[in-house]
Amino acid sequence: MSIIYLQIKGTGSYLPQHVLTNQDLEKMVDTSDEWITERTGIKERHIAKGISTAYMAIKASQKAMDSAGVTPDEIDIIIAATITPDYLTPSLSCLVQKEFGADSAFCFDINAACSGFCYALDIADLYIKTGRAKTILIVASEMLSRITDYTDRRTCVLFGDGAGAVIARAGDTKGVMDSICCAVGGLGDVLKASVFEDYKFIQMNGKEVYKFAVRVNIETITQLLSNNNLSTDDIAYLVPHQANKRIIATVSSKLGIDSDKTYINVDRYGNTSSASIPICLDEMNKKGLLKDGDKIILTGFGGGLTYAGILLQWVGM
Ligand code: COA
Repeated sequence: MSIIYLQIKGTGSYLPQHVLTNQDLEKMVDTSDEWITERTGIKERHIAKGISTAYMAIKASQKAMDSAGVTPDEIDIIIAATITPDYLTPSLSCLVQKEFGADSAFCFDINAACSGFCYALDIADLYIKTGRAKTILIVASEMLSRITDYTDRRTCVLFGDGAGAVIARAGDTKGVMDSICCAVGGLGDVLKASVFEDYKFIQMNGKEVYKFAVRVNIETITQLLSNNNLSTDDIAYLVPHQANKRIIATVSSKLGIDSDKTYINVDRYGNTSSASIPICLDEMNKKGLLKDGDKIILTGFGGGLTYAGILLQWVGM
């Protein structure tokens, strides 16, 4: 019996029109473009106004389906990653299903914060490998502006809104080669948000998250390389969760990964949580950066605390 693999066959993304620059933030809180740029690398972020998390998810999903040449009736599962859904129920994935009339799909959301896309890809890989599904829509959509306190300079400069999606299909050459998904619930208090408490916004110990991010990114990448007898020279691109340029640069330099192999767009979008990696993949795909056979490492870390990594071989679309 031949082995079945998950291959990414289409990508899409959506960024809301409204752009919030560092200069805009200077007028809202006691901060400066210089401080934000130096500490995070972020220059601007997109903010959703008058639209929903589902709207962004639907836009990104439509583009991913178009890019894969897939119609809604072919989709077996819709997995949505989000920590900022429009409703507790119906789920974001059910809202996406309803819009497309993808009635043969079953649907569920996962909450793994900024690791959400990697977790979703790992889950999709298992459904495809076991033959339970042939075509899966994975969409990550976040409206972090909903849970951001725009009077708190320690957090409001970091986050943005947006969505990214991929179509995953069963194929006979390796796409997803290896996955690592982990959680450290004991550290949950360093990054949290609850819409049920009096303070409904993100609360974060930035320094602790920073240290955690650098450590787990290095561990995850090292583990994926060693599990598969690869070195950093074998990797075409590192696509890390886009939270902070300094975190990404530290990880790349400690592992000896060239900066031109490390994809960064945090300067334009800020941290869009689970959406950041599929937004990167869509940009890279559109720019023609990804070649058949390229080995790519995706890494996520975030609330939970959670972290994850995927070793992916790009298969020509
Ligand atoms: N503008 C100006 N000053 C600011 C500021 C802002 N936006 N935010 C914080 N400061 C101030 C602090 O109040 C502090 O001032 P003090 O020394 O007078 O108390 C000073 O800058 C240093 O703050 P600190 O929190 O120590 O800065 P830092 O170097 O750790 O950088 C982060 C802060 C948030 C940029 C950094 O910790 C970080 O990126 N952490 C990871 C966060 C993350 O990725 N979260 C999402 C995970 S998915």
